Amino acid sequence: MSDDTEKTYEPSERVQKEAHVKDMETYRKMHKLSLDDPEKFWSDIAKQFYFKSPVTGKFLDYNFNIKNGPIYIKWMEGAVTNICYNCLDKHVKDGKGDVIAFYWEGNDPMDCTTITYSRLLEEVCKFSNILKSLGVKKGDRVAIYLPMILELVVAMLACARLGFIHSIVFAGFSAESLSSRILDAKADILITADGCFRGAKLVDLKKIADEAIHKCTEHNHKIKACITVKHVTDKSYCDDVTERPAKRPTNQMEVAWNPEVDKWYHELMADSSAECEPEWMESEESLFMLYTSGSTGTPKGVLHHVTGYMLYAATTHKYSFDYHPGEVYFCTADIGWITGHTYITYGPLLNGATSVLFEGTPLFPDCSRLWSIVDKYQVSKFYTAPTAIRALMKYGEEPVQRFKRTSLKVLGTVGEPINPEAWIWYHKVIGNSQCCIVDTFWQTETGGHVLTPMPGCTPTKPGAATFPFFGVEPAVLTDEGKEVEGPGKGYLVFKRPWPGIMRTVYGDHARFEKTYFSKFPGYYVAGDGCTRDEDGYYWITGRIDDMLNISGHLLSTAEVESALIKHASVSEAAVVGKPHSVKGFCIYCFVTLKEGIKFTDDVVKELKLRVREDIGPIGTPEYIQYAPGLPKTRSGKIMRRVLRAIAQGRRDMIGDISTMADESVVETLFGTRPPQNSD
Ligand code: WT7
Repeated sequence: MSDDTEKTYEPSERVQKEAHVKDMETYRKMHKLSLDDPEKFWSDIAKQFYFKSPVTGKFLDYNFNIKNGPIYIKWMEGAVTNICYNCLDKHVKDGKGDVIAFYWEGNDPMDCTTITYSRLLEEVCKFSNILKSLGVKKGDRVAIYLPMILELVVAMLACARLGFIHSIVFAGFSAESLSSRILDAKADILITADGCFRGAKLVDLKKIADEAIHKCTEHNHKIKACITVKHVTDKSYCDDVTERPAKRPTNQMEVAWNPEVDKWYHELMADSSAECEPEWMESEESLFMLYTSGSTGTPKGVLHHVTGYMLYAATTHKYSFDYHPGEVYFCTADIGWITGHTYITYGPLLNGATSVLFEGTPLFPDCSRLWSIVDKYQVSKFYTAPTAIRALMKYGEEPVQRFKRTSLKVLGTVGEPINPEAWIWYHKVIGNSQCCIVDTFWQTETGGHVLTPMPGCTPTKPGAATFPFFGVEPAVLTDEGKEVEGPGKGYLVFKRPWPGIMRTVYGDHARFEKTYFSKFPGYYVAGDGCTRDEDGYYWITGRIDDMLNISGHLLSTAEVESALIKHASVSEAAVVGKPHSVKGFCIYCFVTLKEGIKFTDDVVKELKLRVREDIGPIGTPEYIQYAPGLPKTRSGKIMRRVLRAIAQGRRDMIGDISTMADESVVETLFGTRPPQNSD
């Protein structure tokens, strides 16, 4: 095994033959041009899209150095376009209206349908008209809390069509998380569904949405309209598109209804017009916001603008997956995360792609589900997360071998550093050693891939995100902020903007500047550690701030701590990540209880539930450890490094504790470790 992990893998020949970029020399040339002459490079790409009118200001204008004034980034200033138009109308006008945009594959394998570009355009226009009739105006925020159904794509594109800023909240988040995001965005329209199935479990989405609406009212914020898609209690609009098997799960779920606010999606759609002129948008007008955890405070509303995001989503999707029209592409992410925004909706649609939109999970009804989907639709480009690969590895090769997978050509991964063993398994077992692996590094903030191999040319090394995408200029900095030349390790930073970079934190530009631009003036700081090897390959080593990466999703230690502190028994809490064989990291909490309160199994259960209710299932702690005291410096700062060592039971990792206020805490905490799971 160890030999395989240290090898370099040349691109598979069958991929290389047809690739957009066939050799490293071409990649280097294109990358160099993208840095030497961004205007030439990106204006050629912009020709693929429809612009109502051209650039009036500078092609690129920015300030990346906080010392020189406020940070700003402007691409193709003054040009006028519409991303929804480029995703749909343009293809329909080009005679490609009958191409399938999505194969929708439900949670139940018998439940599936398809939608073409022209049908999707009609649905989007109808829904745009509905939003307009509800009084939504350009620049208003619309909250979307939906499962992976076609109506989610319809809703987001309807917003994009009219310049409404969508704020999609992953349907696994709690009522508390949903309401705080609605409040921060000041959204007064919410779009949800009656419910959804996740594997065998029914999730009552409308009930959670109602709770969130109630919480908003408590903060004097009124939701004007809540539009609900009938998904599990009855049929939805797309039933007439193709036959849908009668196997659709039905149940007796009650949907509470407030006639003043609640509206059924299908009733509104029934008499809405399918004609809707797009709102023509300037390049630097807002497209969408998406919340991501920050290492301090509440989640940040990462704001993306129209044109830069459009250019970048399409171009990265085309090159990183080497996508060619006619191929079937399948990304397993949820649209509630940035991966789904860029690589299920916008990127693929801009490229006229045919994609699989999958509602379910890799383990339902069994662990070969993903490969059955690959064979069913003859998927050639496939994109998933290391945590899914590791979860499936546990079941061995047999469930994979039940399916042929011969259509696969490119296998992508995203979300966290992939361990070389999982990389090799992905390559050998899933890809039959015939596919190219692309380990794509990026963030909600970057809008699209910033470090990634290109399937047809980049020799890959298991665990390396390899090289920068076009327009991206990375650097590695030391603690002192000096650029590392050649091989070395340090902070991953970027020296200039690429089109897809976020423009601000919604409603808090100062936080944007502070989070990403203040540590090292002149650079965008990603928050990840990184190594550059002797061949110039970039290897991401993980977060270097107080962020936890749980199954490829970021949570801050502060968010979990504040959920714990809300419990009446807790006086203090500190949270760290502990390595986990499937999730990458799991949540490990240390809690100090108030005087007179006993640490019992019930307290542990309540605290786990508390965090789960506050954040959602992904926030559920794996461990709650009793901590009579926490390791702190004399100035009162919690020493998380020490807590991480204790969580892992590793005395050898404790390191220097001479700055600790009370060293005896360490031994006490080794004594109160709870039984550890063998994950
Ligand atoms: C953080 C961003 C971008 C979509 C999913 C996560 C980690 C992401 C990789 C990768 C190593 C990765 C980083 C990054 N990350 N992709 N290929 N290799 N680490 O989006 O929630 O904004 O998280 O995910 O730590 O900073 P996100």
